[in-house]
Amino acid sequence: MPIRPARPHDAHLLPAIERSAAEAFLAVERLAWVAAHEVLSVEEHLGFIDKGLLWLAVDEQDRPLGFLCASVQDGGVHIDELSVALCHQGKGLGRGLIACVEAWAQAQGFTALTLTTFREVPWNAPFYARLGFVCLDNGQLQGFLRQQIAHEHALGLPGRCAMRKSLSVPA
Ligand SMILES: CC(C)(COP(=O)(O)OP(=O)(O)OC[C@H]1O[C@@H](n2cnc3c(N)ncnc32)[C@H](O)[C@@H]1OP(=O)(O)O)[C@@H](O)C(=O)NCCC(=O)NCCS
Repeated sequence: MPIRPARPHDAHLLPAIERSAAEAFLAVERLAWVAAHEVLSVEEHLGFIDKGLLWLAVDEQDRPLGFLCASVQDGGVHIDELSVALCHQGKGLGRGLIACVEAWAQAQGFTALTLTTFREVPWNAPFYARLGFVCLDNGQLQGFLRQQIAHEHALGLPGRCAMRKSLSVPA
C-alpha cells in the first residue's frame, strides 16, 4: 500500500481510523477501556500536517487506512500516534509507516526515534522491539520522555514504557 504525507483535507477522516484501530484493545481484557479512549482531534491532526509530520497509508483510491504522526522532541523524532484501521491491521501498514518516518528522520539528520507504548500488548512493545526499538528504564528517562511517561502514569495508563531506536547518520 502506498504511503504519502497527509494533506489538510485528510484530517477529518483520521479520528475514525484511530477509533477503529483502538478496537484491537477489546481483545485485552484489562485494557478494553482503551477502545473508548479519547482520540486526536481534527485540529490536532491539522497541526501535525502543518508541520509536515503526519503520514498516511492509503488504498488504491487514495483513501487513508492508517496514519502516523510525530513531533520533534529533544532533538529526536517522537512518534505521537500510530493507528491502522482494524480491518487493515496485520498487513504490514504499521511497519511501512514506521519505515517511512524512519527514512524521513534519517534524511533530516535526526539520530533517534522514540515512542511510548504498552509494554505487554503483542502489537505494541514486542512489535516495536522487532523493528529495533529498545525499552528504556524509567531511570534512564530525561526531558520529554520522562514528562510523557509521568503524564501517562497520572492518567492511569498501566504498563507503559518508553522506547528508542538509534538511527545511523547517512554517509
Ligand atoms: C500497532 C498497529 C499500528 C500496527 O499496525 P499494523 O498495520 O497492524 O502492523 P503490521 O501489519 O505492520 O505488523 C503488526 C505486527 O503486530 C503483530 N500483531 C498484530 N496483531 C497481533 C496480535 N493480535 N497478536 C500478536 N501480534 C500481533 C503482527 O504479528 C506484526 O508483527 P510482525 O510484522 O513483526 O510479524 C496496529 O496494530 C494498530 O493500529 N493497533 C491499535 C492501536 C495501537 O496499538 N497503536 C500503537 C500505539 S503505540
